[in-house]
Amino acid sequence: MTSITQLRMVLVLILGLAPLNSGCAPDPADPPPQSKNPASQPPGAKTGGELAVSQKEVATDPEGKPVVLFQLSNSHGMQVEVISWGAIVLAIRVPDRDNHFDNVTLGFEKVEGYFEPGPYFGAICGRYSNRIADGAFSIGDQKFQLATNNDPNHLHGGDRGFNRRAWTGKTVQKDGAVGVALQLVSPDGEENYPGTLTVDVTYWLTENSELEIEYKATSDKPTVLNLTNHCYWNLAGAGNGTILDHQLTLDCDRYLPVSDTLIPTGGKTDVAGSPMDFTSAQPIGSRIQQVKGGYDHCYVINAADGSLRPVAEIHDPGSGRVMEILTTEPGIQFYTGNFLDGAAKNGGYPLNGGFCLECQHFPDSPNQPDFPSTLLKPGETYSQTTVHRFSVRTDQPKKN
Ligand code: GLA
Repeated sequence: MTSITQLRMVLVLILGLAPLNSGCAPDPADPPPQSKNPASQPPGAKTGGELAVSQKEVATDPEGKPVVLFQLSNSHGMQVEVISWGAIVLAIRVPDRDNHFDNVTLGFEKVEGYFEPGPYFGAICGRYSNRIADGAFSIGDQKFQLATNNDPNHLHGGDRGFNRRAWTGKTVQKDGAVGVALQLVSPDGEENYPGTLTVDVTYWLTENSELEIEYKATSDKPTVLNLTNHCYWNLAGAGNGTILDHQLTLDCDRYLPVSDTLIPTGGKTDVAGSPMDFTSAQPIGSRIQQVKGGYDHCYVINAADGSLRPVAEIHDPGSGRVMEILTTEPGIQFYTGNFLDGAAKNGGYPLNGGFCLECQHFPDSPNQPDFPSTLLKPGETYSQTTVHRFSVRTDQPKKN
């Protein structure tokens, strides 16, 4: 990084950003910073200020600790907001084909909304995201019984997962990106999981209009771990109807069939010829009525080998917005917001008001020897990288 860039970063940190919004509530009406550098923009993107990051305390959590809001922006005007509580992504503002910026990830209006159990908006889920059958697993001869908070199974870390913990955070920077590095130390026995676990999650906003999520974790005893980010997306803008018109492509020829309580039954089923098939672009809603309860399934990523590979593309024909997802993980849970019901505790969003594509290992892996292992031993480092890349397509007229 050049010294000029470093100087700019320091100034940004001292002076703060142009206000993104007054509080934490995403406000789509907020304009992005003004254009300075019109070069190398993705189509349709307005230029913004410099690559910038700032932080401020915005609330006090139920333990009396400060909740810190981190605001990231790039020179195209893309903005990302993250809070230390739950390592939650509050808002992501990206342009549509007419350069109108909207927040495309669902969330609560007030930070306090995230203190109660909820739909995991924007959060890092752990220790074990997704389900463990009956909350039970063994490591060697030792049996562990976790909370069965999604009766009869364990879900997203238990009664109080990583989504409702106070993380610590600091601003970071590298060439072409600014970020926030968050850390959580989960004590041995927390939620009945073994081992003191140290988790580091860094959210980067890049000049290529990507949200890049880097995860690392270590444990001092053998434990199980499956981390994911639980953003709900609506590329038309959060609160702007359903996602049933969004076109989804998944590089997945197979998915994991599940029981009535959403535990994989073992084996992998071909998607070909079924409503599960998104190997070519399909509207999310075109066959959803044929899937009992809506989509809530883990897809098997083709040829996953631990390297970063493209797995999903979502296009909203109405706005022209496109999101691509790349990941190092073997699975991607596709969930169509089936439990959203308009209730305030669920953010007021309607059924199918957002979708999740959660990159992760397979559900119930600790009990399924044929699945890629989720065991983390002392001396090993868990690592995951997942990238959300935003752009716009101009090949279809805007719907009225
Ligand atoms: C995951 C699960 C869903 C649901 C949501 C949270 O995506 O697969 O069944 O529990 O989290 O509401």
